Amino acid sequence: MADNIIQFKKNENMIIPDEPVIPYIKGDGIGPEIWDAAQKVVNKSIIFTYNGKKNIQWLEIPGGEKSYKATGEYLPQESIDAIKKYSIAVKGPLATPVGGGIRSLNVHLRQTFDLYANIRPIEYIDFVPSPMKHPEKIKMVIFRENTEDVYSGIEWEAGTKEASEIISFIRKKTGKALPKDSGIGIKPISEGNSKRLVARAISYAIEKKLSSVTLMHKGNIMKYTEGAFRKWGYEIAKELFNENTITEKDLIEQYQGNCPENKIIIKDRIADMLFQDVLIKPEEYHVIAAPNLNGDYLSDALAAQVGGLGLAPGANLGYENAIFEPVHGTAPSIAGKNLANPGSLILTCAMMLDFIGWVDSAQKIRSAIQHTIKNKTVTEDLAMQMKGAKKLGCKEFADAIIANIK
Ligand code: NAI
Repeated sequence: MADNIIQFKKNENMIIPDEPVIPYIKGDGIGPEIWDAAQKVVNKSIIFTYNGKKNIQWLEIPGGEKSYKATGEYLPQESIDAIKKYSIAVKGPLATPVGGGIRSLNVHLRQTFDLYANIRPIEYIDFVPSPMKHPEKIKMVIFRENTEDVYSGIEWEAGTKEASEIISFIRKKTGKALPKDSGIGIKPISEGNSKRLVARAISYAIEKKLSSVTLMHKGNIMKYTEGAFRKWGYEIAKELFNENTITEKDLIEQYQGNCPENKIIIKDRIADMLFQDVLIKPEEYHVIAAPNLNGDYLSDALAAQVGGLGLAPGANLGYENAIFEPVHGTAPSIAGKNLANPGSLILTCAMMLDFIGWVDSAQKIRSAIQHTIKNKTVTEDLAMQMKGAKKLGCKEFADAIIANIK
């Protein structure tokens, strides 16, 4: 079995066996149906690409409501151990347990494995219905900090002893009198976590030969959290990537706006303005590095610009583990009805294949999805926005994609 374990260690090259074991959690709500659809597509593409020389040994591990019913635990230790052992996992959406010991399973997983970078590529697939005039100009990858900011989950309800202690502390330290009935939330943003996130975003831009990395922040208002994220972002660009990067300021002042070859432009934008820019001039943005909450908002808005949550993949990367998952949730209102779009999970698996270097297979999947959408054979979420489309169920959409793998 050791031969089938992906070796993924900090600062070392990954070692990928030809038949790696990859654990997966089907997830709640639409999870099981999109999982079954996605797995068929991925397996077909791998067989088609590698003729049996490569193959994934999928290992189902418990997680979510199904696991809770069977074992009394939302995320049993055996699942944590399997992800630790096999390094890379794929998961469907998980419902946030109500009243459970864990605030959110997703947050718990990301924190357990220190999956500090949430990566969400946003790319237009030809023929997908979009509210944009030129959706083809959108090609961005968001690197969202995944461990702190609002994900720290530190809050006190209005009226509690803790909230009133903090309100008194703030009055003493700043002279500001907050309303006594305030709830209090803490938003920590640290130098180390900001720098490692921005460093990963810049490394990615260098590797993929992308032209810019934008630091998204609200530093004009929150100077020591969001503003500091911006400052630390510029610092790490200089410390680690001075050879490969120039700032936008240098570009204008020293290079008259002409970017030297092989240099990546590091720029920053205030969050509200960036929302406007990605609508008006999306072609100016390539990689965006953002603190947790900003990144969450922006990625859903951008997903809507290129076809919605049904086609939005994502990954959570740490130093020694990675968990790939679609951006969307469990979509309870359509669960179990064969209506869900498995596209996000299929594209998520394609991202995973890219990550382990099986790029030909990933590319075949993307082409097949594009072909299927071009044929106007799509799930309901896309069909209702397309003229003359044939509406397919989740399962049938996967079959149509499989038929287009070439
Ligand atoms: P959601 O993403 O489940 O649904 C939002 C809207 O998008 C709904 O109208 C839904 O029907 C539609 N939608 C989502 N995925 C779709 C797909 N594949 N095909 C077609 N339509 C799709 O978000 P919501 O309703 O806020 O959350 C529901 C549950 O999911 C909550 O318990 C939440 O905590 C959880 N959640 C889990 C996530 C994860 O596991 N990573 C991420 C987001 C939410």
